[in-house]
Parts: sequence; structure tokens; C-alpha cells
Amino acid sequence: MATLRRNPFTPTFGHAPFAFAGRDELIDDVIEGLANQPGDPNRATIFLGPRGAGKTVLMNAIAQEASSMGWINANAVARRGLLEDLMYALKTSAAHILDEQSLPQLTSVKVGPVGASWESPQENIPWRFRFQQTIEELNRQDVGVLFTIDEVNPECEELIEFISFFQLFVSEGLDVAMLLAGLPSMVSTLLQSDYVSFVRRAFQRHLGTIPDEDIKDAFLSTITENGKTIGEDALDLAVKAAEGFPFAMQLIGYSAWRYTKDEKELTRAHVEKAIRRSYQEMEHSVVQPTLRECSQREVEYLAAMAADEGPSITSEVAVRMGISMTNASNLRRRLIDRGVIKDLRMGLVDFDMPAFKTYLREHPLGY
Ligand SMILES: Nc1ncnc2c1ncn2[C@@H]1O[C@H](COP(=O)(O)OP(=O)(O)OP(=O)(O)O)[C@@H](O)[C@H]1O
Ligand SMILES: [Mg+2]
Repeated sequence: MATLRRNPFTPTFGHAPFAFAGRDELIDDVIEGLANQPGDPNRATIFLGPRGAGKTVLMNAIAQEASSMGWINANAVARRGLLEDLMYALKTSAAHILDEQSLPQLTSVKVGPVGASWESPQENIPWRFRFQQTIEELNRQDVGVLFTIDEVNPECEELIEFISFFQLFVSEGLDVAMLLAGLPSMVSTLLQSDYVSFVRRAFQRHLGTIPDEDIKDAFLSTITENGKTIGEDALDLAVKAAEGFPFAMQLIGYSAWRYTKDEKELTRAHVEKAIRRSYQEMEHSVVQPTLRECSQREVEYLAAMAADEGPSITSEVAVRMGISMTNASNLRRRLIDRGVIKDLRMGLVDFDMPAFKTYLREHPLGY
């Protein structure tokens, strides 16, 4: 009996894909920035993109490459306790380099519910100087520090605090870099804050759709390097349905692989069935949460667009909604910023994420 092979697709969040599709330029820019002198603008980069665009895995891939270049990475999510988390991540990643004295010491361990408390010799020093001391100690040994902060949230005060420290570290010429990642709406609110004018000057990189050829290569290598095959016709169908969106690619690949059971080839029938299944999953984990973040007017704009087979004419969308061109273009701009639609110029717009159009045709109110 043939053995079932492990499914190599990763339709979840934050999981490194078997084959990375596209994004080379984004990775290279930051890596070059790290190789360059302190002060290189790529050393402060913000990645923005809708859910499932691949922000977390991109940031992790860069951090991994940076680590292989000798950088220390401190990674955390923007939430309460961020400074503590970043410091802990920094100290643990650099444990092999740092002086033992400056490492956090375990002072007590509670069993059930499990917990531990740590005490650091630096504890009474303000956060900014605790970071600065550790970075300086690493820099003295020619080691740079890359901070990666995911799920940017403008309400996280510790994030705003950390950004202001980072600005000081940069102006003092320390060998540091910072990558932030978040949903476009979260990032744009953060950028409006007066306290972080520094990040307005950081490089903002939008994670848009990935070119079809790159999606195709990633599909193919994930399938063939894991012991199955796919015909050109089935592959093209899968690529088209993914619409350049990495999470959709993983969903389609995952289901199609499952449907093959112990057969070797992913056929057109497997892919067709997988697309239907993946769209349901996309609706649940990407479309609905994204629409919940949109205003009612924005949802109405999208629903008006969904009536068209192909791209929509912006002036017609305004007419359908019965609103002025100025109001319509404000809505259009906000939806482009969210990464849901794209501007095709010549007065045309189209959806930039899969599954939205079909969902909105059935649910014009967004739910
Ligand atoms: N470039 C890529 N190539 C192939 N697969 C990818 C790529 N980027 C992301 N993926 C896949 O898509 C999934 C979602 O990616 P990720 O979790 O990074 O999205 P995200 O933008 O961080 O989403 P969220 O906003 O919900 O945190 C991952 O589990 C990964 O397997
Ligand atoms: Mg993420």
C-alpha cells in the first residue's frame, strides 16, 4: 500500500512556507541595509498588508537571514508587556555572547499554573538605558541588533515608547535596525501619532499581490519536491485562483494535496474541488474579519464593485452608490490603503484579494 505523504502546504498564520513565493526585493533591501552602515534607511522598515499577505513570515525570513549574518534578533508582538518581551528575547538570543552578569536570572518557578519570575541586574535602570546598555555591549563585539515587532497596534503605548528609544539609538549611531509589521489601518493610525514622527520617515513597504510566475514556481516546487506531480493545466488553474495571494495559495495547495490521498498526481478535478473549499476558508479567515474592520460606506463601495464581472469604472461605482465623485474617491483611497482593491488607472479599480467579489455578491451588507 502506498504511504500517505506529509502535506507540505501551510494554510495557517505565521508558518514559514515550504517554498517562499516572491518578496525577494523586500528581503534584499533590508538585508542590504543591514550590511550597510548604521543610518541606512532600510534599517527602519514597516511592512503593511492585509491578513494573510505574508507579513509575519516575511519578517521571520529576514530575521533568519540576519541571524545567519551574525545579527541578534529580538522579536515580539505589539501588546502590553512589549518592552519586557523584547528585552527577554534580546537577552535570550544573545545569551551566548553577553556577559553572564547581564543575563536575566530565574528567581522563582511556580508550578500549576506554570509561571516563572526573572530578575535582571539591570532591573532598576529605565528601559531606554537597559536596551542601550545591551545593544552597546553587543555592538562592542561587532554584533548588530535587529528588533522585529509584529501586529502593530497604535494603542500599544509600549510600542510608541520603544520607537522613541529606537530613534535615539539611531541618532547615537548604534548598530541597530527595526522592522514593524501590521495591517494597513493599524499602521496608518500609528503614523498619525505625534509621538512617532520618526516612523513616518521609515520605509513603508506594501505587501501587494505576488506575480503569478512566482506563485507558480512556489506551487510547483512545493508539490514536486515533496513527491507528487501536477499537470500544466491543473497548475495554471491553481495559480489563477490564488490571485497572487499567498494564504490562498497555501489553502488551495493544501486541499488539493489532501484530495489526492495516496495518488501521485494533483489533477484538475482535485484543484477545482480545492478552490471551492479554499474560498470558503478565505471568507471565514480573511474576508469577514477584513470587512468587519471596514466602515459601512467602504463595504457599500465594495458591494457596488462586486456587480462587475471584471474591473469597475470608478465613476459608475459612484453613480451606483448615489454619492459624489469626491466621496467615492475618498472611499476608494481608503480601500486601496487597506489592500483590498487596486487602482488600475484610467478610472478603473479591481479587487486585489481573492474571494471578496464572490462573497459580496452573496452578502452585499458584508455579513
Ligand atoms: N511569500 C510567501 N510564499 C508562500 N507562502 C506564503 C508567503 N507568505 C505567506 N505565506 C503563507 O501564508 C500564510 C499567512 O502568512 P502570514 O501569517 O505571514 O500572514 P500575515 O500577513 O502575517 O497575516 P496576519 O495579518 O493575519 O498576521 C503563512 O502561514 C504562509 O504559509
Ligand atoms: Mg501576521
